[in-house]
Amino acid sequence: MCAELAQTILSTTQAHEQWRQLCLNLIPSENLTSPQVRMMLASDFGHRYAWDQTWYGGTKFTIKVEEMAVEAAKKLFNADYANVRPLSGHLSLMAVIMGLCQPNDPIVISHIDNGGYPLNLQARFPLDVHYLPYKEDIYSMDVSRTESLIDRVRPRIVILGASIFLKPHPVAELAKVCKEVGATLVYDGSHVLGLIAGGQFQDPFKEGAQILLGSTHKTFFGPQGGIILIKKDPDLAEQINLTLRPNPVLIDNYHHHRVAALAIALAEMLAFGKDYAKQVVVNSETLARALVKEEVGVVGMGWGYTKTHQVLLQTEDLHQGEKMCNQLEAADIIADIGVRLGSQEVTRRGMKTEQMQHIAILIANRLRGNAVEEIKRDVHTLTRQFQSTAYCFESH
Ligand SMILES: Cc1ncc(COP(=O)(O)O)c(C=O)c1O
Repeated sequence: MCAELAQTILSTTQAHEQWRQLCLNLIPSENLTSPQVRMMLASDFGHRYAWDQTWYGGTKFTIKVEEMAVEAAKKLFNADYANVRPLSGHLSLMAVIMGLCQPNDPIVISHIDNGGYPLNLQARFPLDVHYLPYKEDIYSMDVSRTESLIDRVRPRIVILGASIFLKPHPVAELAKVCKEVGATLVYDGSHVLGLIAGGQFQDPFKEGAQILLGSTHKTFFGPQGGIILIKKDPDLAEQINLTLRPNPVLIDNYHHHRVAALAIALAEMLAFGKDYAKQVVVNSETLARALVKEEVGVVGMGWGYTKTHQVLLQTEDLHQGEKMCNQLEAADIIADIGVRLGSQEVTRRGMKTEQMQHIAILIANRLRGNAVEEIKRDVHTLTRQFQSTAYCFESH
């Protein structure tokens, strides 16, 4: 009975893998890892504990790899401090908020209605939450109203960044007022971290942010997890690190196989990040324009649709979005109910503009209600040609 259960779990996972290899995955929060990253995830590090203090034995290699990950992260993002321990982007955000804020401190973040991340920390940890004002065009921040808000509420931290992330945020404009009121300017780059790493998006540090945090598995093609990068200020780094080391506040064992996998992905980004990130942005721009040519509604006509990996389809509401998502999934095109489409994973499979134009036609045909089996066949013909992972080192 137990062996049967294990066998069923194995075969279900295999079925998933076989299916997803043939799908066109356009979810903007996901990516593919390289063979070397996968090797790290399956390594003995995944069985071990290690802290930088003396409690556990057997840590001479684990600690060394973490040090290499930290140094690679500092180099890649031009940061002075890096913490690779957070198990997710969400925990990176929690570590920064809990490390820097006292109960009832004011903070300023993006509202979910404007594409913000639905952080719900205040449900358990009392915070005085204020939302960044946006213009009618809901993906453009209103800089002068934001400056007034920051000036009035004098927040402990201001967090820029979003889950619907189509263009740069006004970091340089808001850095000045944050400095004046003593607010720490935090950039949640969960979605765009790989584009920042490749130098193809705004550089939050250059523009005046003090902290850059995010997920390591969306446009950044590493293992699922999080990272926190800090510029200059050792006190900030220390306050945040306190939540991520013993005695544990947020994390105790911090998953050394993931740290090793991240170290490899950081090396891959240092070597191939520029070409990868450039192609991601070209691919999403191409996808948006090709969809519009096929008369699919895309948000952002006035400003070129996208400067990131994301393309946002026009929908009336989530109900319609869910319908579109299901329509696409029937032909093995995977999206979310937003409907956000991301170019990063197909880019990592090696696809370029020609394939993006083809994908736009497949999406448009499916949304018009054309024959599902025929479109699915075309999807499989396309994906069968892109079964390896680009922008990584060869495995020996
Ligand atoms: C802007 C933003 N921040 C944080 C997170 C949380 O990241 P993770 O899924 O790695 O916990 C997300 C998730 O999609 C996000 O969109």
